[in-house]
Order: sequence, then structure tokens, then C-alpha cells
Amino acid sequence: MATAHRTDRPTPCRSTLTLLAMAFVLATAAGAGAQEPTTDRESAEARDADALPRVTVIGTGGTIAGTSTTRTSFQSYRAGQLLIADMVDDLRPEIDEVAEVTAVQFDNRPSGGYGMEDYFELSLAIDRALETADAVVVTTGTDTMEEFVYWMDLTVRSPKPVVFTGAMRPWTVVGSDGHANLFNAIVLAASGATTCYGTVLMLNDEFHAAKDVWKSDGARMDTFISRRFGALGSVDGPRVRAHRAPPRVQHCDTPERWRTPFDLSGITAEDLPRTEVLIGYQGARLDEAVLAFADAGVRGIVNAAGGISAEAREAAEEKGVVFVRTQRLRSGGHNLLPQKARLLLLLSLAFAEDDEQAQAWFDEIGAMDFEAFDVPVPEG
Ligand code: SIN
Repeated sequence: MATAHRTDRPTPCRSTLTLLAMAFVLATAAGAGAQEPTTDRESAEARDADALPRVTVIGTGGTIAGTSTTRTSFQSYRAGQLLIADMVDDLRPEIDEVAEVTAVQFDNRPSGGYGMEDYFELSLAIDRALETADAVVVTTGTDTMEEFVYWMDLTVRSPKPVVFTGAMRPWTVVGSDGHANLFNAIVLAASGATTCYGTVLMLNDEFHAAKDVWKSDGARMDTFISRRFGALGSVDGPRVRAHRAPPRVQHCDTPERWRTPFDLSGITAEDLPRTEVLIGYQGARLDEAVLAFADAGVRGIVNAAGGISAEAREAAEEKGVVFVRTQRLRSGGHNLLPQKARLLLLLSLAFAEDDEQAQAWFDEIGAMDFEAFDVPVPEG
């Protein structure tokens, strides 16, 4: 809970980050039945309290790793060309004042080139890195970054900071946003400000919650928007400010509630069922698509805005298809964007004992909020 109120953080603070992560580790150990404190704690104690935070930067490609045709060809470039180790080196020596940075190359592709099996492996890679690092930064393309961050938010087990970043301009043009975004993402991760926030997205000096954020523009650097809730906070030079927090921080002291049921270490990528999205529109007739999906073995369909008849739905349900509803709206209460609803449905179906449990998880996790304060309203 404490993290929700930690604002105006002037410098990366090693000791606070360590304390929060240790509190979670100890709570996990206590919940697991009087285990000895983990090696995380021992190594944290053994290290010098003034040592810089250790941040692992995982590169996956995208525009941020792009090389432009000329120094001013902002829109003409090849994404996913540069190695993350070289990009981190470009930020030296300044970044060495912020954190002890290690670079790991996961792959080097546009964001749309990744599938569910890659998401699966990336999530495990992040948790592996967090066994020794204090925080992780991941660079990806921005086109599907909102899906990357929501998947990681749902699956990463560690409460340590996980920060995604990218760029709207390739690394090699004048005025690229890539350098500042990568630098600020490392500052944010090293600060520890987002411990227990889950995965966040940092671009254009602002960081956003995984569930709320979406890409709104194909060219502008302020492309990422968090619907009507707004950004979580900002990074201005060394100063990290948090204005609000995702609801899951309220469970920071109880790891079994903070973590989702989606522990990927217990399954394989082949266990992930196929789930698809159908977008409704005026006069839509989606029955043929529904029946084709059912015949192809699809297990879950996100129905955004209707257009499916009761007959087609029943025929698909008989073949084992589970339907969930969401809306096309970018904003509005607990509404999940269709592409994020699909990820939550996929994971719910992969882990639930039965379809009722999958539906219950979908409703509960997709709509998580701060615990409500019910005010008695006089009736009559
Ligand atoms: C991509 O998503 O890989 C390309 C676009 C971008 O990174 O902004």
C-alpha cells in the first residue's frame, strides 16, 4: 500500500526499492509456511546499501532500435536493427550514474512480429532477470506495446518494477525520442517508484498503467493515452512523480492476492488456447466467422459490440467456445480494450478448472478496483 503514496521521488533510491521488494519476498515466505527468507533477501543484505540499483534492459526491437535512411528521415527507416547493448552504450557515461545496467537481447523484430509463445517466453525471461536484478526495462515496438504490457502485467510474478518503453522515431535521426525514453525508463525502473504497480509503459516522459493505456496516434510522440484516468506519473530528469497507482498496489503486502493465478512456470506455451476478437458494427453479421472459429478449435471469442445471433452463439458454445463481451469504446468504466480482453480471456481459459471459473476471473481481474467504500444511501 505504501507505494500508492510515494510521490516526488528526486533520485533513484536504492534502499527503498530493496525494502519494498524484501517486504514482498518476506510476505511470500511467511504465506508459504515459515520458509527461511529467500536468497533475494540474503544477497540484498550482503550488498552495499549505497550500491546503485541493478537494472536489466531487455531488447526486443521496434522503432527504437531502428536505423533511418538519413539523419532526418523520421518516417523512413528499418525497425529492429540496433542491438540493445549498443543503445545502452550510447547512454554512457550518464546512465552509469543512475544504475548498474545489464543488456539482454531477446530478439529484434517489429512488435507485430511476436506471437503468444514469444510473450510466454518473454514473461519468464523477465522473472528470471528479476531473480538478481532490482528492476527490468523492456524495449519494444509501440504498435502493440499496449498488449505486451498487459500480458506482462497479468503474468510476471515479481513485484519489482517492470517498465516498457519504445520510440516514435528511430534511434539514428536527429531529435529521436528513443534516447530520452530509454534513459527515463531506466531512471523510473531504478527509482523503485513502481514496485507493486505491475508492468508500466513509459514514453514521452510519462508512465501509464498496463490495463488503461492505448496507442492513439501513428506519428506523434505523445501517442500513449490512459483513457480518462490519465497517466500514473512523470519522469523529469532525475525526478519521478507518481500521481496515482494501479489498484493492485493495495495487495502489495499479500502476495497471494497481488499475483494473478496465471503462473506460466507451471505450463508450456502449447497449453495456451486460441482466442480471437470479433468487432461488431452497424448491421454486422458475424455468424459465419463465429462458426468458422469454432470449427478451427478456437476456445474463446471476445465479442466487441455485438453482431452475433443467438443460434450461432449456441452452436459455437456446444463446440466449447466461451464468449465474453466488451465494447469498442476507448474509455468507459471497467471496459477492457478488445485486444486486452482477449489476453485476459486466453489466460483465464488456460488456468481455470472450468469455464465458470474462467468467466469469474475475467470479470474480477478485468475490473479490479480499489476496495469500495459503500456509503449507506437512504431509500424511499
Ligand atoms: C513496431 O511496433 O515495431 C513499429 C512501430 C514502433 O515501434 O513505433
